[in-house]
Formats: sequence, C-alpha cells, structure tokens
Amino acid sequence: MSAPLQSVFHPAGPDAAIITQLTWVLFGGGALIFAGVMALTALSLRRSGRPVSPRWWILGAGVAFPVVVLSALLVWSTWRSTELSPQTSRGAMSIGVTAKMWWWEVRYHDPVSGREFAGANEIRIPVGKPVYLGLTSTDVIHSLWVPALNGKMDTVPGRVNGLRLQADKPGIYRGQCAEYCGEQHARMALHVVALPQDEFDRWLSSEAQPAREPTSPLLVRGRAAFLEQRCQACHTIRGVAEGARLGPDLTHVGGRTHIGAGTLRNHRGTLAGWIADPQAIKPGVRMPAALDIDGPTLNALAAYLEHLK
Ligand code: CUA
Repeated sequence: MSAPLQSVFHPAGPDAAIITQLTWVLFGGGALIFAGVMALTALSLRRSGRPVSPRWWILGAGVAFPVVVLSALLVWSTWRSTELSPQTSRGAMSIGVTAKMWWWEVRYHDPVSGREFAGANEIRIPVGKPVYLGLTSTDVIHSLWVPALNGKMDTVPGRVNGLRLQADKPGIYRGQCAEYCGEQHARMALHVVALPQDEFDRWLSSEAQPAREPTSPLLVRGRAAFLEQRCQACHTIRGVAEGARLGPDLTHVGGRTHIGAGTLRNHRGTLAGWIADPQAIKPGVRMPAALDIDGPTLNALAAYLEHLK
C-alpha cells in the first residue's frame, strides 16, 4: 500500500479533484495578472512619454479589467462548486467520528451482524464508494481534514456535521485536525485507509468481533497486566472489559497503522514506550504514565496489544 499521502495537489477523490482545480485556476489567474502588472510597471519605468491617456488607464485597467476578470472567475468557481457532493448520508455508507482532545473515535455499523463498534484514529472505507462521516466532538471545536479526499469540516460539540469522502484508488490518506484545539493539536492526525470492497467487507466483519483470545503464556500475562494496571478505566477491549470510552477502544489496536493519533508507527516497541511514558511523547495527553510497571510485564502488555489484530 502507498505511503500516507497528505496533499491537496494529489487529489484522490471527486470532490478533492474539484477543489484542486479551483485552486489552480484561481492561482493561475492571480499569477497572470501579477505578471501583467509587473510588466507594465517595468515598461512605465523605461519610457518617459505618456502615449496613453490617464483616463484610459483608469477606465480600462482600473474598472473594466477587474470587473470582467473577477466576474468570470466568480461565475465559473460558483458553477464548479455546485458540482461538489452535497453533505448528506443518502446513498452512502455512514461512519460516526467523534473528535476528542486529542484523538478521533470512529464508530462503524456492521450490516451483517448488526453490531455497532468503535475504532480510533483510522477510518477504513471501501474504494470508489461514497462514505458519509457524521462528525461531532465531546470537548472543543476540532476540524477534520483529509486533503487528498475533500475539504475541511468542523466538529462541534452538540452538533453533527456531515462530510462525504470518496477514494478513487486504494491507499492510505493522512488527515489532520485543522482547528486549533489545545496543546496537542499538532499530534491529532488520522489515516483514511481505502480498501477494495471485498477486503473492506472482510475487515469490517472481523473488526466487529470481540478481541482474540491470547494463545501463549506471554499474551496471557499481557491480558492480566491490562486489568492489573487498570487500563480498563479508560479503554475498552471487547470481550475483556467493556464500557469505557475515555480513551481509544483497543479491541483491534494491533491492526492499526499508528498509535497516539498518528504520532508513532504501531509496533510492540512503540506500544511499550507509549504505555511507559506517554507524557514524554505527547505532553498533556490524557493518559497517565504506568510508573510502577516492570520490564517483563510491560513487554507482555505491549505484546498482547500488538496481537489484537
Ligand atoms: Cu483537534 Cu486541533
């Protein structure tokens, strides 16, 4: 799968393509006018005579030219903007996204089992299908922005704002919180993972299942450590301890590309480092450090979380 792509200049969905085109046309228009004005300035400095009367300049370059050019750009960009998708859930798969300081809770509905379940910081979608994100927040205003797929949409406490995304080809598209929301605003990223439909269907039904049972003494020790360390006060692992929603649902945490909302790549080493001292990695994050945990237990806990695919 391609490297995480976060660029408005590489649109990978129909709405993003329109936004990129608007950007280039408006930028191109501005650049041409700037070049023209600079050329006229250079010309006026070289020639002392005045072959054209001041009145012509005022009416022609000061009134007629901007009226014609700005009107044309306004009409064209307004017409082009009407071709952006309406932000409705009609005909689209719905995914709920709740922004929190400083991560994203993602809620899916599995049509086969009827289950609703949560993931975090990663939105998986089928390729070529419109997806409707119902966006809200539980604390302050954030904004979801996945530049390769669409524009920004604010997440506002007490409201649900809609945003439609569509990815034209499989891949991982990086997104970022785009509204300043406190200390770790910069480390509030997410990834949209676009999968072919059959792969997505398999992922969705496996993700709806409760956590895998540990299969080795190390993993059994890791699961026990999860409960001993009181991780379940904030985190849910379906099938082990349920109900908590303060921190990300960890039922299938091992299957995610990153941890800490895009802060670190996800593997046993980064999981262990994060549990040992999240404040050193992401100062201000709501998760406290596990100060009393010994090395072998930390290793077992990280191994257990890594195996939760
Ligand atoms: Cu959340 Cu910025």
